[in-house]
Amino acid sequence: MEQQKTPTSLVFGVNGERFELSHVHPSTTLLEFLRTHTRFKSVKLGCGEGGCGACVVLISKYDPVLDQVEDFTASSCLTLLCSIHGCSITTSEGIGNTKEGFHPIHERFAGFHASQCGFCTPGMCVSLFGTLTNAEKTNRPEPPAGFSKVTVNEAEKAIAGNLCRCTGYRPIADVCKSFAANVDMEDLGFNSFWRKGDSKDFKVRRLPQYVPNKTNNRFPMFLKEIKHDVFLASGKCSWHRPISLIELQNLLKLHNSNGTRIKIVVSNTSMGYYKNKEVYDNYIDLRGVSELSKIRKDQTGIEIGATVTISKAIEALKEESRSDFISDYVMMLEKITDHMSKIGSGFLRNTASVGGNLVLAQKNNFPSDIAVVLLAVDAMVHIMTGTQFEWLTLEEFLEKPPLGLESVLLSIKIPSLKLNQSQSSEPRSRFLFETYRASPRPLGNALPYLNAAFLVKVSPCKDSGGTVVDTCRLSFGVYGSKHAITAKKVEEFLAGKLLSVSILYDAVNLITASIVPKDNSSKTAYRSSLAAGFIFQFFNPLLKTAVITNGYFNGHTNHPFVEDFELKDNQKQVHHDKVPTLLSSGKQLLEAGCEYHPVGEPIIKSGAALQASGEAVFVDDIPSPSNCLHGAYIYSTKPLARVRSIKLTSELQLDGVRDIISSKDIPNGGENIGSKTIFGIEPLFAEEIARCVGERLAFVVADTQKVADMAANSAVVDYDTENLEPPILSVEDAVERSSFFEVPPFLYPKHVGDISKGMSEADHKIVSAQMKLGSQYYFYMETQTALAIPDEDNCITVYSSNQCPEYTHSIIARCLGIPENSVRVITRRVGGGFGGKSVKAMPVATSCALAAQKLQRPVRIYLNRKTDMIMAGGRHPMKITYSVGFRNDGKITALELQILVDAGIYVDISAVMPHNIVSALKKYDWGALAVDIKVCRTNRPSRSAMRGPGEVQGSFIAEAIIENVAATLSMDVDSVRSINLHTYKSLQSFYEYSHGEPCEYTLPSIWSKLAVSSNYDQRTKMVQEFNRINIWKKRGISRVPVVFQLMQRPTPGKVSIFSDGSVVVEVGGIEVGQGLWTKVKQMAAYALGAIQCDGIGGLLDKIRVIQSDSVSMIQGGFTAGSTTSESSCEAVRLSCNILVERLKPLKENLPQEMGSINWETLILQAYMQAVDLSASSFYVPSMNSMSYLNYGAAVSEVEVDILNGETRFLQTDILYDCGQSLNPAVDLGQIEGAFVQGLGFFMLEEYETNVDGLVLQDGTWNYKIPTIDTIPIQFNVQILNSGHHQQRVLSSKASGEPPLLLAASIHCATRAAVREARKQLLSWSNQDGADSAFELGVPATMPVVKQLCGLDNPVIVLQSITDSFSLAGTHKVQVDQK
Ligand SMILES: Cc1cc2nc3c(=O)[nH]c(=O)nc-3n(C[C@H](O)[C@H](O)[C@H](O)COP(=O)(O)OP(=O)(O)OC[C@H]3O[C@@H](n4cnc5c(N)ncnc54)[C@H](O)[C@@H]3O)c2cc1C
Ligand code: FES
Ligand code: FES
Repeated sequence: MEQQKTPTSLVFGVNGERFELSHVHPSTTLLEFLRTHTRFKSVKLGCGEGGCGACVVLISKYDPVLDQVEDFTASSCLTLLCSIHGCSITTSEGIGNTKEGFHPIHERFAGFHASQCGFCTPGMCVSLFGTLTNAEKTNRPEPPAGFSKVTVNEAEKAIAGNLCRCTGYRPIADVCKSFAANVDMEDLGFNSFWRKGDSKDFKVRRLPQYVPNKTNNRFPMFLKEIKHDVFLASGKCSWHRPISLIELQNLLKLHNSNGTRIKIVVSNTSMGYYKNKEVYDNYIDLRGVSELSKIRKDQTGIEIGATVTISKAIEALKEESRSDFISDYVMMLEKITDHMSKIGSGFLRNTASVGGNLVLAQKNNFPSDIAVVLLAVDAMVHIMTGTQFEWLTLEEFLEKPPLGLESVLLSIKIPSLKLNQSQSSEPRSRFLFETYRASPRPLGNALPYLNAAFLVKVSPCKDSGGTVVDTCRLSFGVYGSKHAITAKKVEEFLAGKLLSVSILYDAVNLITASIVPKDNSSKTAYRSSLAAGFIFQFFNPLLKTAVITNGYFNGHTNHPFVEDFELKDNQKQVHHDKVPTLLSSGKQLLEAGCEYHPVGEPIIKSGAALQASGEAVFVDDIPSPSNCLHGAYIYSTKPLARVRSIKLTSELQLDGVRDIISSKDIPNGGENIGSKTIFGIEPLFAEEIARCVGERLAFVVADTQKVADMAANSAVVDYDTENLEPPILSVEDAVERSSFFEVPPFLYPKHVGDISKGMSEADHKIVSAQMKLGSQYYFYMETQTALAIPDEDNCITVYSSNQCPEYTHSIIARCLGIPENSVRVITRRVGGGFGGKSVKAMPVATSCALAAQKLQRPVRIYLNRKTDMIMAGGRHPMKITYSVGFRNDGKITALELQILVDAGIYVDISAVMPHNIVSALKKYDWGALAVDIKVCRTNRPSRSAMRGPGEVQGSFIAEAIIENVAATLSMDVDSVRSINLHTYKSLQSFYEYSHGEPCEYTLPSIWSKLAVSSNYDQRTKMVQEFNRINIWKKRGISRVPVVFQLMQRPTPGKVSIFSDGSVVVEVGGIEVGQGLWTKVKQMAAYALGAIQCDGIGGLLDKIRVIQSDSVSMIQGGFTAGSTTSESSCEAVRLSCNILVERLKPLKENLPQEMGSINWETLILQAYMQAVDLSASSFYVPSMNSMSYLNYGAAVSEVEVDILNGETRFLQTDILYDCGQSLNPAVDLGQIEGAFVQGLGFFMLEEYETNVDGLVLQDGTWNYKIPTIDTIPIQFNVQILNSGHHQQRVLSSKASGEPPLLLAASIHCATRAAVREARKQLLSWSNQDGADSAFELGVPATMPVVKQLCGLDNPVIVLQSITDSFSLAGTHKVQVDQK
C-alpha cells in the first residue's frame, strides 16, 4: 500500500549544483525555491501566472532507456518544486557568467543593444538557449561555424512568449536571428560588432562565436542514477508520483476515504489562471503513470495520453501529417497543430498537458482552444472513475457535471476521417476543416476573444456545379459560464443544402443568434459578430464565383475568398502559413559623433552582459538579512468609506503573520505621510476614512512573502458609509461638486492670440466636439519593491527601486519622526520605471521603513502584479471638448479647448498636466489658442507620471482635431497637417521661452525628409490601390509630427579617482534602463581625457558608475522628463573639469622629471602630493538653457481585417532629432522602446476600472502589452544628427519620452483604414460618400475597430446581394469579369 512507502528525498540539480531536500511543502514553486534558497537570482518574478517569461528556466530530464536528455523551457513560477525530481535546471547564469565567461547569447544581447533595464533579459536568454539546444538535436545539415541549426523563423519565435517593456523587441529579434544558419547578415540591425558596409565574412567573424552545447555532457552524472518515482512526506503534507493505474486508483481511494485535501497535478500551469486560494495536503502527480503519457496511432485515429504536453502532442500530430499522402485527415491534423501552437507560449506548451487543459474546460469552463478544436472533430475521451473505465464523446464529457476527485481523464482520441469518409455514398465528397482564433496577439500568449473550428463534408452538385454541404460540425468557444459548444441549429440547417448566398445569409444570421457569450464575458456583440465572420469566411469561398463579381462591388475586384474555389484547393491550404512573418529587416540610420570621443560613440550599455546572465542585482535580488520579514498591502475596495475594522483569518494569523501596520503605528513625532511632490502630499495609510479603491489601509508583515500575500488577500475589512457624501467617481461629478486641484499659475498654459478674432476668420467651425482618453499601466517588469534594514542609533537604510530617492529619503524621515541624516536610501538599478517608480515608489519604501523601525527587524516587499496594478494609478484619463475654426484650405484659425483631467484622490504630479498637455498640443499653429483645463479630484486611485505625462494626450488631441478638420473638409489629412505646421515665427509665439534659434527648428526639414525616406507619396497611392481591390482588408498610412518641450533640472555629480587610476562616478540620476550610466561613463572619459596623458584612451574601461546613495548625493531629484541623463552628464563633466584643473599643474611639472607620463603614474603622483582626487558639483541649468524643444516625425502604415477588427502594423519609419546624440545606440533603443510603448497605449492596452474605480485588468491575462508579433513588421529609425546646439549638453537632445508620442501615427493610420471600411459599408447600403463622424477610441483594440467597420458587415453584404437578386434577378446582377 502507498502509505507504507518510505519517504524519499527530492534530488535535482541547478546549474550543475546538487540539491537534496527532504522537507518541501508540495505547493512550493521552483521560482520560490530558486529565489529564496539559492544564489541563482536570474529567474525573475514578473507576473507569477505564466504570462511574461521572466522566470523561464531550461529543464533537462534524462531517459535511461534511450540514454537521451530531453530539454525544454518552462515557467518556474508555475512549476512545482517536487515535480522536478531527477531533473537538471539551467538558468541564465548557468549558461554563462562573469566568472566562467559569458555565453555568446549574453554577449550578443549586449552587442545588439537588446537589454535596457535588464529585468526581462535572463528569461529571454533562456528561451533562446532552449530553442538553440533543441535545434542542435535535429538531423538538419551542420550549420556554418558560429551558427546554430535553428532557422530564422524559429529563432524569432523563440521569445514569442517573453515580454519586454523597454526595448520594443527589434534588437532582441536580431539577437535571435543572428544564431540562425539561414540568416541573411544584411537583415541584422544596428550593433556594436560591425559597421554598415562591412563584408559578410567580417561580420560573421565579429559575432561572438556560438559552439553548440552537447546536452548529454551538460547533464550532471549524479542525476542519471536517480529513480524518477518519488514520494515525499513532510508533516501532514505529501507528494505522490504513482507509476501505474492501480497505484493511482489506490491512492485516490485512500485519500478520498480519509477526507484529506488532495490535488491531482500534471504541470500545475492552471495555477496561472485559477490562483487557487485553497490549501491542499496531498498532491498526486499523474506524470509517472505510463498509460497516461503514451501516444498511440492506428487506422482508427490517434490517442493522446492525458499527461502528454501540448508541445509533444503538436509534434506527434505534425509527424502524422508529414506523410506523403495528403488526405483530408492530414490537412485536418496540420490545422489542429497550427491552432494548438498558439496556446500560451512555447514555455507553457512544453509543460501544459492536453488532459489538464480539457479538465479545466470541463470543470471550470476554461475557454480552452483544445476543447473547441477537438469538439469539431468528434474527439473521444477515456475516463477512469474508481475502477470503472468508459469512453465518452468529448461533447458528452463537457456536458457532464464537473469531474469529481475520483475521476481521472486517461486519454483523448482524435478519430480518423477515413472511416467516416468510406461511409459516404458520394465518391467525390470531401472533408474541409478550418480553425479560427481572434486574438490580440497573432502568435498566442493571449486568450482569443472567440475561437472556432469547423469540419464540413461537402460534395459537388452535378446539376448546378455548386457545392452541397453533406454534414457539418461547427464548434465555438462560448465564454463566460459555458464551455465550448457546437452550433446544432446551424449544422442542421446547412446539412444537405446547396450553398448559395441566401443560404449563407440565413446561416450567418442563425449563428449570430446562437453564439451569444454568456454572463461574465464582455464584448458580447463583438464576439457574436466574430462567429458570423468565421462562418462567412469559411463558406464564402464555396459559393459559386459568378454570384459576387467586380461589378457588384462597385469596382472592387474579388478578394481571394471569393475567387473561384475548387475543392482540391483545400489541400493546398494545408501548408500555407497563416501566421504573418514576424519582422522584416528594419533600417537604423545613425551617425556616431567623434568630436567629443568617446561621447557620441554607440558603446554597449554598461552592464548589459551582466543583466543578460542575470547577475545584475535588483532590489529583490539582495539576499534577505537574517530575521527578515515580508510585507503586503491590505487596500480599500471601496471608493469612500469608513474603515471600522480589519481582520485576518485566524489560521493565517497563527502561521507566520507577525503584525499589521497601519496609521496607528506612526511613531510620536512622525507623520502619516507616504509621498510628496512640490504640489502636495499623500498619506501613507488611510486613517478613519478610505478615500479611493486601492488606498493603503494596512501593511501585513509575515515571515515570507507568500504568507504576507495570502494574509493580505484573506483580510476582511468592515466598512461603513453612514453620513458620508457619495464618492466623486467621474470628472462630471467633480465639476458638479467643484472638486479640483489647484494649478500654480506658472504651470497654467497661457492663451495664444485672440480666439474671437481667430474664430471670425474661419470658413468652417466644429463646435463642442468631444472625446475621451483612458489610462495606461506602466507594466514595468519589476513591480514595486523595497528592503528596509534598521541600523544603530535609530537609523535606517532602505534599498528601493525608485526614480526619486531624494524625496523618498525625506518622506521616510518625516514618517518615522527622525532627522534626515538618520536615513539612507540606496538605489542601484530599477527594473523599468516609466514614471511609475517616482511618486508611487515612495510609500512602498516608507511602509517597509515604518514596519522595520517598529519591529526592529528588516522588512521587505515585492508587490504581486495584481496589487501593483490596482494601486498604480497610471496615466491620466481625461475628457476633452473642443471647438475649432478653420479655412477652406485646411488652415486652422482658432482652437478652444476644455479638458477635464481625472487626477484621482491625491495631487501627485497632476498639477503639471495642464502645462504638459498644452505644450505638446502646441505642435501645430492653431492661429489662436484658448484652453480651460481642470484637474479634477475624484475618489479614484491617484494618477501619476507615466512616460510623456500629458504630452502623449496633448499630442494625440492635436491629431484628432486635425483628423476631424480634414474629414469635415473631405481633404487629405496629410495636407491639413502640413499646412498647419509652425513657421519659425508662429513657433516663437507658441513656445515663448523654448523655441531656440531658427536653425534649431528642424521639424520642417524632418517632415519633408521623412516623406522621401519613407516613400510616402508612392505608398499612399499603393494604399489607395490596395483598398480599391480588397474588400475584407483595408490599409491606412499616416504621417505625424511631434514637438516636445523638455526641461532640465539641477543635478549633482561626483567623480573620485582611486590610487590605481580607476574611477568611481556618482550621479543623482537613476539607471532605469535608459542608459544613463553608459552616457555618464562616456562623459567622464571624455572630460577626464582633457588631461591628455598616455593611456587616457582606455579610461572608459576604468570608470564605474555606482548605485545612488541619498546620503552621498543629497539633491538627486527626480529621474524624469527625459533629461536626467544629459543633466547628470553635465554634472559629471563639471566635476571632471575640477579634477583636470587640479591635475594639470602636476602633470605639467612631472614630465621634466619623468619623461612621458601615463594616467596611472599621474594619479599615483597626485596621491603622493595630496591632490584632492574627489570632486563633486551641482549642475544648475541657466534660465535660458533650461527649456528646449525636440522634434521628430513618423510614418506608419497598417492593415485592418474588417471581419475581425485585427490591425497589423506593416511599417513604421521614424526620423528623430537627437541633436548630437551622446550615445546613438542608447538613443535608438529609447526611440524604438518608447514608440512600442506608445503603440501599446494607442492600440492594445486596456486599463479600465469598474464604477468604483477598481482596476479590471489586473494581470497578464487581460493586460496586453506589445509582444514581438505586435510591433511594426518593418521598423525603420533614423536619428537626425542636427549639429550644434550651443545651449545643450555637448549639443545633445533627449530621447526618452518624445518618440512615444509618435505612435499616434499608428492610430491615425488605423483611422484611415477604418474610414475606408466605413465608406465601403455605406456603399453596400447604397449610400455614397465618406462617413467622417466617427471617433476611433484609444486603445483601438480589435473590438473597437470591428465595431466601427461594421459588426455585421458580412450580413450586410449578403443582404444586399440577396436584395439585388430579388430586385434584378440573378442574371442581371452578374457583371462579366474583365
Ligand atoms: C499563461 C497561460 C496561457 C494559456 N493560454 C491558453 C490558451 O491560449 N488556450 C488554451 O486552451 N489554454 C491556455 N492555457 C491553459 C493551459 O493549456 C492549461 O493550463 C494546461 O493545459 C493545463 O495542464 P497542466 O498539465 O498544467 O494541468 P494542471 O494545472 O496540473 O491541472 C489542471 C486541472 O486539471 C486537473 N487534472 C489535470 N489532469 C487531470 C487528469 N488527467 N484527470 C483529472 N484531472 C486532471 C487538475 O487537478 C487541475 O484541477 C494557458 C495557461 C497559461 C498558464
Ligand atoms: S513570472 Fe513566470 S511567467 Fe511571468
Ligand atoms: S529590458 Fe526588457 S523589460 Fe526592461
